[in-house]
Amino acid sequence: MLNSKILIGTMSGTSLDGIDIALTKIHKNKISVLDFLHINYSTKLKENILKLHFPEENELEKSLLLSNELAILTGKGINRLLLKNSLSAKHIKGVGYHGQTIRHRPDKGYSNQIGNADLLSEITNLTVVSNFRNRDIAAKGQGAPLVPAFHKDLFFSKTKNRVILNIGGISNITYLPTNGPIIGFDCGPGNILLDHWIKINHNLDFDKKGNWAKKGQVIDGLLKYYLKDKFFNKLPPKSTGRDLFNLDWIKKGIKKTYSPEDIQRTLIELTAISITDAIKENCSGANEIYMCGGGAKNDFLVKILKNKTNLIIRGTSDLNLPEQQVESVAFAWLANQTLDKKFNNSPDVTGAKGFRILGSIHQS
Ligand SMILES: Nc1ncnc2c1ncn2[C@@H]1O[C@H](COP(=O)(O)OP(=O)(O)OP(=O)(O)O)[C@@H](O)[C@H]1O
Ligand SMILES: [Mg+2]
Repeated sequence: MLNSKILIGTMSGTSLDGIDIALTKIHKNKISVLDFLHINYSTKLKENILKLHFPEENELEKSLLLSNELAILTGKGINRLLLKNSLSAKHIKGVGYHGQTIRHRPDKGYSNQIGNADLLSEITNLTVVSNFRNRDIAAKGQGAPLVPAFHKDLFFSKTKNRVILNIGGISNITYLPTNGPIIGFDCGPGNILLDHWIKINHNLDFDKKGNWAKKGQVIDGLLKYYLKDKFFNKLPPKSTGRDLFNLDWIKKGIKKTYSPEDIQRTLIELTAISITDAIKENCSGANEIYMCGGGAKNDFLVKILKNKTNLIIRGTSDLNLPEQQVESVAFAWLANQTLDKKFNNSPDVTGAKGFRILGSIHQS
């Protein structure tokens, strides 16, 4: 491992599916994955996190206790990954710990990711970098998306204008033109609405391959109603989360006569249209799309996207990084920048006043 650095990146996204942990190596400025682990959230844990997205009694203590629970779960995962790879704390430069977002309100000047970084540092004996979003927000940025700088470093092509499309709970794009500044922003809902709707109708966590949505018909009136939301017409920089796209948001437009599967079909159409419009309006000259995130496994969504964008769509595994690992690897990369005292925000993307070093360091 001479001249290489090993870092860990962890990500728990808006889908609330669980924690992704990537063990990475940076060699000659190139990052690669040594191993990867996904820990599923239990139903109870997911419910408890979901509740904290909205005001409730004694939420301060509840969020602090959950913060500890999440750090313990993440710490166990990291220690397991190190043991499996015969590595110990002395081999690891640091951990990029995103934590779990429970509120994201850059308009009000904050974004809150829970996950006790001090406790994680104690459990793992590692230096932990956390709280990546608030410095960008303090500099008047959106604090999201944070991955475009990493996408550029890893996926930039000198010959093709590339779009990197991440479909997590929320969908976000990074546009990497061969010439010109990078563009990046949240397009709107990714899997979040689809997950909500199948959960309350069939008690499933997600619509596998989009098979349920495929059975329905688009309800034009409902689609039009949803597309009226101001978020879709807002120009970048913009970011969003469960604060906006949630079950209440779905229910607002629904009439009793609509069938659940037609609603699911409409929600998947909405997801695809909001992504396609975002690409058409902001990525002129795009040649190809590389997808990542869990939405890449939704075959029906990918099919609709191919039809609507008329662009070649591949997965990031074709660029040597598996779709599910991109976000967690990004946080290892972001932490490495923090520890090297290098800028890691993208002011062009988030709207921040300038370059900043994001992340709070918790020394081992
Ligand atoms: N086989 C599948 N078919 C359809 N959807 C799937 C499948 N597997 C995963 N998904 C979707 O992907 C989601 C998880 O994706 P991912 O982990 O990228 O999201 P995330 O944790 O919210 O990340 P982000 O930080 O990008 O918001 C699941 O909630 C589910 O909706
Ligand atoms: Mg996830």
